[in-house]
Parts: sequence; structure tokens; C-alpha cells
Amino acid sequence: MDFKRYLITAALPYANGPVHIGHLAGCYLPADIYSRYLRAQKRDVKFVCGTDEHGVPITIRAMKEGITPQDVVDKYHTIIKDSFADMGISFDIFSRTSNKVHHDTSQAFFTKLYNDGVFEERESEQYYDEAKGIFLADRYIVGTCPVCGNENAYGDQCEKCGSTLSPEQLINPRSALSSAIPVKRTTKHWYFPLDKYEQWLKEWIVDGKKDSWKPNVYGQCKSWIDSGLQPRAMTRDSTWGVPVPLPNAEGKVLYVWFDAPIGYISATKELTNQWSDYWCKEDTKLIHFIGKDNIVFHCIIFPAMLKAHGGFVLPENVPANEFLNIEGEKVSTSRNWAVWVNEYVQDFPGQQDLLRYVLCANAPETKDNDFTWKDFQDRVNNELVNIFGNFVNRAFVLMHKLCNGRVPKLHIDAMDDADRILIQDIENAKFKVQTCLEHYKFRDGLYEVIDLARKGNKYMQDKQPWITAKTLEENPGNQALIDNCLHLCLQLTANLTILVNPFLPFTAKKMCGMMKVVDRMLEWENAGRIDLLKTNYPLLPPELLFRKIEDTEVAAQVEKLRSNLTKATTAKMEDQKAPATPEAIPEPPAQKAEITYDDFAKMDLRVGTILKAEKVEKADKLLKLLLDMGTETRTVVSGIAMHFKPEDIVGKQVTVVANLAPRKMRGIESQGMILMSQNADGRLIFVSPLEIADNGSEVK
Ligand code: MF3
Ligand code: ZN
Repeated sequence: MDFKRYLITAALPYANGPVHIGHLAGCYLPADIYSRYLRAQKRDVKFVCGTDEHGVPITIRAMKEGITPQDVVDKYHTIIKDSFADMGISFDIFSRTSNKVHHDTSQAFFTKLYNDGVFEERESEQYYDEAKGIFLADRYIVGTCPVCGNENAYGDQCEKCGSTLSPEQLINPRSALSSAIPVKRTTKHWYFPLDKYEQWLKEWIVDGKKDSWKPNVYGQCKSWIDSGLQPRAMTRDSTWGVPVPLPNAEGKVLYVWFDAPIGYISATKELTNQWSDYWCKEDTKLIHFIGKDNIVFHCIIFPAMLKAHGGFVLPENVPANEFLNIEGEKVSTSRNWAVWVNEYVQDFPGQQDLLRYVLCANAPETKDNDFTWKDFQDRVNNELVNIFGNFVNRAFVLMHKLCNGRVPKLHIDAMDDADRILIQDIENAKFKVQTCLEHYKFRDGLYEVIDLARKGNKYMQDKQPWITAKTLEENPGNQALIDNCLHLCLQLTANLTILVNPFLPFTAKKMCGMMKVVDRMLEWENAGRIDLLKTNYPLLPPELLFRKIEDTEVAAQVEKLRSNLTKATTAKMEDQKAPATPEAIPEPPAQKAEITYDDFAKMDLRVGTILKAEKVEKADKLLKLLLDMGTETRTVVSGIAMHFKPEDIVGKQVTVVANLAPRKMRGIESQGMILMSQNADGRLIFVSPLEIADNGSEVK
């Protein structure tokens, strides 16, 4: 199909907190690169986004801060919008779901489905908090886990033992918002019959998207569909949200996952009168950029809604990314373990492209990835500064030194094989980058851009025009060799500008300035050409494109992460008297009865290193570990499988209770036990020596 229009969406971020770099890497940066690339091709593109301003988390946040939900979303809408603008995310519109166009649009959507008889009306019993006067989502009910006895299990899951729960299973359930005992109330909702769309979804996705959707996206959809679809309530009891547009629906709003994706439509409406071209004409290519936690909503529920409504295009692709961890740990906004975009912009003024570079070069496109400040430094210093920046700088400096500051002529008769190969490389680079971008392989595309700069460096290094310059007195004809080298290096620089522009727009702009060319040069069709800069055209002196990242900056950022984390923890400790919330720290367990030194000395604690780790068959919670204990190896079965992937813990040093009586678990003899501590949020942490200790050495 030949597409005439492109509609690019990026997930609407919740307006209940600032955005962090995981958000950027997950969907906003790839969506921006793709949109910029399409625009450079002069295709008709609309790139839409906005804040998602409804839903339970926003009302909870408002309650906690003692302000209204509107205050919350106003505050974060601005912060988020500014962060994106600072990072050069080039939305055509950044709207919000609390505005009127959106309320009207999502209500009209609901009404159409209602009038067409799509919804099923159902009554059900739901937990209600009488103290706060609201219905409680499962996550906001806490109680004792029937499986492991954890007193702070949530109504949907126990984070201690990993069991999936329903609120009914909790022993002594209480509201996380007020500690009141929740009571059951009958309530009526409108359900979207996803089950009726199962067959259609099978054909559309399972049969139709196998080759074009990313395996991670396709796989998640397939397993959802295979496990059978159920009707889902599209309304909620709440006062914050889009009111259900029906009589007698007081106190009911549209489910946030019903209204939010319609936000893409509302934003397009707000942007252009031609909005229906983008949403309703078959030759529009609709692409949703999202993070992996949004896959079912964008691939299954929203398309089914669009299908039920009729008249809309469906997403052609949904290139969802996985998650970006920070310094080896999952991002946690409640623990403040995150790198916030607004803080990066403050700490590294004018250096947005460094972050764009690293987040794209290390994007979690196929699996979760890790961002570390050390890796940030390495990539910036070794790739951007040493390869790309260095090449451009040398080309400019040498051109000023050896060619009077003007683009030298290309002497065809003096060309050699190296010149011809470089010209071919320039041409090939365009197609390589293009192919990657067309397939949403942004990191590969960026790699090809850097690779072209790498080739330029090598070419210049082989040609050594500064050495040739020393032979000019004897051999004035050699100026042609110098000219050819720098002519091609400058044309390569112009090509780099075009190719890097979708990825690093601030850098491309600087480069255009140095070359004194207008933005039109950046049009994609110009890539691959070697006549972009006119012979004899005077160029400006080079500007520094990128700066190095110092060790002290890395250390400061790592320290900042750690100290933010502590602050978040202590702040919560202080308000322990406040009503428990899902994130609140439970009381530490009471101290155990006193023991003597002799009691303690009976324990033989030793250091060991995990050599091997594997899952124990048919036991979700168990890992079988092989430990290097210095003079021997031991097998230990440990109940940590819900917390760690086997491959992630190999090589870790741990503390082992070495003289614990052996015990058989699932037919495996466990010869000891490893020590773990547990955080308030349920996370397990190895109790390990701070420095590498000898295996088998005693812990006393
Ligand atoms: N607010 C959601 C999140 O951050 C994303 C909503 S995307 C939309 O996970 F399609 F619903 F808008
Ligand atoms: Zn449990």
C-alpha cells in the first residue's frame, strides 16, 4: 500500500509526575526520530501526543498532597511539556485529556458504541471505602497474604511471595487510603465485549502481523488472544474523569484506558481541521509508539474499540520498546530511582543530543537494557566525541589550514580508489540508515551514521593531507590530492548532517551553521550526493559539536541517584503515622529474643560465589544455585526465583549459612542457605561482602 499520510502517536504520559529517561528511550525518542525522518522525506506527517490526565493514580496523588486533581495535572502537564520541548521532541501538538475537545470526542465515541448496542451492562459487587467515599481498585486494598502471611499484600498481588491475588482472598483487608475496612457495594458498569472480537483479532494480528510487528509485541498479543478475551468494564466509579454521557450515570466516568487512546484523536482534531483525513482515510499509516506495558491497550483493546465504532484506520504497526533500567535496577518512581529529564536538562545545559545519542544507541528495542552513567560517558567520549566530532572538526580545521577556508575543488583526474570507495560508502550509508529507520531499528540506524563518520576518519588518516602539504614546494601538483581529500571529507560532513538530523537535531543545526547552508539541505533526498557543498564556498570555523563527560560528572550523577533514593526512603519513614498507602514502608519486624555470643558462634557463615543458577522445575519460587566455597562447591536451593533471573546473579558473592543441616527440596539436597535482606517494597537484596572476599572465608 502506498501511504499518503503518516499519523505518529506517542503514549500519552500520565500527568502525575515528571518524565524520566526511561520514558524518553521507550517511546518519545524513537517516535521523534521517525517523525523527523519522515518530514525530511517531505512526507505528510502529524506527530501527536499530550498528557493523560485521568485515572486513579492522579486522584490518589491529589489526596496525598492535599490538592485537587486539576492542580496535579496542571502542574505536571507543564513540567512534562517543557521537558519534551527541551529535548527536541517535535510534536505537532502536545495536548491534554482534560480539555473540552477531548471530553466531547470521547463522550461521542462512547455514545456511538452505546447506541449501536455494543456494551453489555453488568452489576457487580466492588469494595468501597466509606471513610473516603470512593470505590477501591484492587491495588488500593491491602491485607494479609493467604499464601505467605505477608501483612502488606495488595488486592491484586503479594509482592513478597509473588502470588496473584484477588481482594477477596486477603485476610483482614483494609483500604490503603484510609485504613477503613472496605465494604462491598453493588455498582453498575458498561462492558466492552472483547470476546466478540477475538476471532477478528486473531485474523488481524495473529495471522496478519506475524512478520511486520516486532517479536516482543506480537508475542504478547498472541498470548493474550490465545488465553481468551473477556468483556472489560469501560466505566468506573469516580468523580475525576470524563463523565459517562448517559442519564442516571452520576458518579461514573469513562475508564481511563477507554478515554486516553481517544486522546490521540482529540489531539489531532485540535491540531487540524483535516483531522479525519488522518484517522479515516485508508491510505494513512498510523503508528503507535509505546512502552511494553501499554501493548495490550494499543494492540488489542483500542483497535477493537475503533473496529466497533467503525470508520477509523487501524495501527499499521506498534513498535513498542522494552524497559530501560538505571544502574542495574528497575526504575522506581516511588523510590525516586530514576533519571529525570528536567534534571538532566539542568545539569547538562545545551547537551540534549548527548542524551538523545546514548538513549538511542542503547535503546531497549528488543530486551530490557541498562542505563549507567559510566556507559553514558563512554559512549559520548568514545563515539560522539572521538569519532563523529573529531572527524568533522578535523575536516574543518584542515580545510581552513590547507584550502584557504573554502570548499576545495574535486579534481576528477587525480582521484584514486580510496576516493571512489568513500563516495560509494556515502551513497550506501543513506540506504542503510533508511532501511533501518523504515523498520524501526533506530539503534542500528544510528550505528550506521557513526560508522560513516568512522569511515571518514579512516580515509583521512590514510590520506594524511597534512603530510602531503609538506611536499608541495617540490611538487605543487600535489595540491590536487589535498583538495580531493578535503572536498570529499566536507561532502561527507554534509551527508552526516542529513543522516544525523533525525537523531541529533541540535547537532545537525550547528553543522548547518558551520557550513552556512539552509535547512533545505537536510531533505533526505539530498543524502548520498557529493555535490552538496559548492566548490569555493567559504565555510565558518568549526564549532565544538560535543563535549567530553568528565569522571567527576559521572560520580556526581551516581551520587545524586543514590542520595535521592535515600531521601525518598527517609521521607516516607517520617510520615509513617500517615495512613498506609501502597508505597508506604511497613514497620520493621520486632526484634527477636536475645541470644548469647555462644549461640551466635554456632553459626558457620562463609562467603561463596554463585557459579551457576537455574530454575527448579515445577517450583516457581526456587532457584538451584551452585556455589564456589573455596575448597569445595555446594548446591543450595533458594526461594528467590520470583526476584532474580538466573543469568543475572551468576558471579555474585553471597553469604552462606554453611553448617545448616542439609535438606531436600523438590528432590534436590540443599547444602546450606544464602542470606538475603528484604526492602519495604518487597525487593530482595543479597547480603554480600562490600569488596571481593576469598571464597570460603568466614563471616564473623
Ligand atoms: N498514560 C499511560 C501510561 O503512561 C499511557 C496512555 S497511552 C494512551 O502508561 F493511548 F492511552 F493514551
Ligand atoms: Zn504472599
